Amino acid sequence: MPPAIALFGSARRRGNTGAFMDRIATELGIEVVDLSALRIAPYDYEHSHRGDDFEPLMRRVLEFNRLIFASPVYWYAVSSPMKNFLDRITDFLDLPELLDEGRRLRGKTGYVVCTSIYDEAPKPFVDAFRDGFEYLGMRFGGLAHVNCKDGYDPERHDAAATSFAQALLE
Ligand SMILES: Cc1cc2nc3c(=O)[nH]c(=O)nc-3n(C[C@H](O)[C@H](O)[C@H](O)COP(=O)(O)O)c2cc1C
Repeated sequence: MPPAIALFGSARRRGNTGAFMDRIATELGIEVVDLSALRIAPYDYEHSHRGDDFEPLMRRVLEFNRLIFASPVYWYAVSSPMKNFLDRITDFLDLPELLDEGRRLRGKTGYVVCTSIYDEAPKPFVDAFRDGFEYLGMRFGGLAHVNCKDGYDPERHDAAATSFAQALLE
């Protein structure tokens, strides 16, 4: 069983965040799930999209104790596919028949992988994950962020990927 699963959402698969996440995933030997390649409808109060790819994905995610959330910073916040995914977790809290499975998030460790054009990830971006994990009873395991103002540069950025991967395994 790999040590973690990565949920990745960006407007492009082979951009900066994708390259950074892939470097981490190679180091850890883990799968990167491209949320944009799946059919995950936005949250709605009627739960009218229960047949899409979200529930099967969540069941796969729940097999892991370490969950990595990877997104670029777009407007101080997460990408749309990541926001959709996070919103849909609400299904597992709203629907009585999914609640027992949703509670399995408790005790898991969440990690954040992101890129932006500054040296640090914006506080609201990180806090949304920190507070969201806490709400779900999860632990905040750590953050990996690199400044991709000039694009993802393996020479400059790979070290952040490998040290994050090592810390996750400790
Ligand atoms: C729609 C959009 C909004 C962005 N907003 C921010 C932002 O608020 N703060 C920031 O530092 N960078 C921002 N950026 C820059 C991206 O975070 C940065 O280029 C990132 O590495 C892109 O990753 P990607 O290749 O996976 O899309 C934005 C980029 C886009 C396309």
